[in-house]
Amino acid sequence: MKILSFFTKLLHLLPSEFSHGLALNSLKFLHVTGLLKLLLPIQRHRSIAKKEEKEQFLEKFKNRVGFAAGLDKNGDYIDCLAALGVGFIEVGTVTPEAQNGNPKPRLFRNRSEKSLLNRLGFNNKGVDYLMNNLKNRQTKIIIGTSIGKNHNTPNEFAYRDYLLCLDKVYEFSDYVAVNISSPNTKALRELSDESYLRILLSKIKSKQETLSYSFGHKPIFIKVSPDEELDNLKSICNLIIELQLDGIICSNTTVDHLDANGKGGVSGAPLRRKATEKQLFIKDIVKNNIPIIASGGVMSVEDYQEKVDSGADLVQVYTGFIYEGPKLILDLVNL
Ligand SMILES: Cc1cc2nc3c(=O)[nH]c(=O)nc-3n(C[C@H](O)[C@H](O)[C@H](O)COP(=O)(O)O)c2cc1C
Repeated sequence: MKILSFFTKLLHLLPSEFSHGLALNSLKFLHVTGLLKLLLPIQRHRSIAKKEEKEQFLEKFKNRVGFAAGLDKNGDYIDCLAALGVGFIEVGTVTPEAQNGNPKPRLFRNRSEKSLLNRLGFNNKGVDYLMNNLKNRQTKIIIGTSIGKNHNTPNEFAYRDYLLCLDKVYEFSDYVAVNISSPNTKALRELSDESYLRILLSKIKSKQETLSYSFGHKPIFIKVSPDEELDNLKSICNLIIELQLDGIICSNTTVDHLDANGKGGVSGAPLRRKATEKQLFIKDIVKNNIPIIASGGVMSVEDYQEKVDSGADLVQVYTGFIYEGPKLILDLVNL
């Protein structure tokens, strides 16, 4: 474990996006060669203690800790990330067509704040590529797939992109996350306005019903922005309940920052409080009716506990993993 922690620190000396790729490829190498198992202490497998009847879905998770969307956008690292002991991974966000995303540099570390700023813009290899990786995965842990729209699809036709992705990934995913909250695709966040969202989510609901005849019911989660005004957040929650969608992910990155590297979404420590406050607000509306996945600023065991104490059923990590490496994941899954 010490070697992995040392390697994580070493990677921080390299440019952000380069070290990101290097880290995941090294992890894959360690996994494929069987070395990863030797470097990790034995994991205790435990199921979630609290089993509420409404949460049949949650019973399938071996623990509450997962990797957030964006870490494995194309599903290239599913098995090696799963080997770290998490209960679930959200892959994507994927779009119908492959796209390069925004010009580089577009990923920055702010070490003193323990944050990342990214304006990647849904760089991904397209839904067919991801689908193939989903089909070929070995792990049995829960895999969610985050779906989005291509940058050149206007919002009025965005539903077509979401439906196309949903159609393709549904069979091979344990849940699907609808990403309407990335700040790095122009006007994407406008999809959370009631006028767009009602149409989008109604179409998604009806597609889910159709697909469930062939592949069973797969929960659909909506991922929200931490920058959402409370009135609108309330309407989103009510719409999710009204349309009988299955859950909510709180939250994506925030644009509420003064990061010297310019535009983009901030994640990590500075996001924690804001994301938790929004989560508490959501919990107050949805009560125990639907599961909440917390995301935003989980950098330590205490941060994780804060999310659970604030009503999260599952907790995702991204930036904490970049800063603390596999040790954080082990600490969390062994709680
Ligand atoms: C580099 C990077 C890429 C991301 N890409 C996505 C994405 O494709 N889809 C998505 O829903 N969220 C994406 N996110 C947001 C994360 O899933 C997560 O919600 C956010 O970073 C807050 O969690 P954290 O503070 O633990 O990082 C990305 C975050 C980062 C840092």
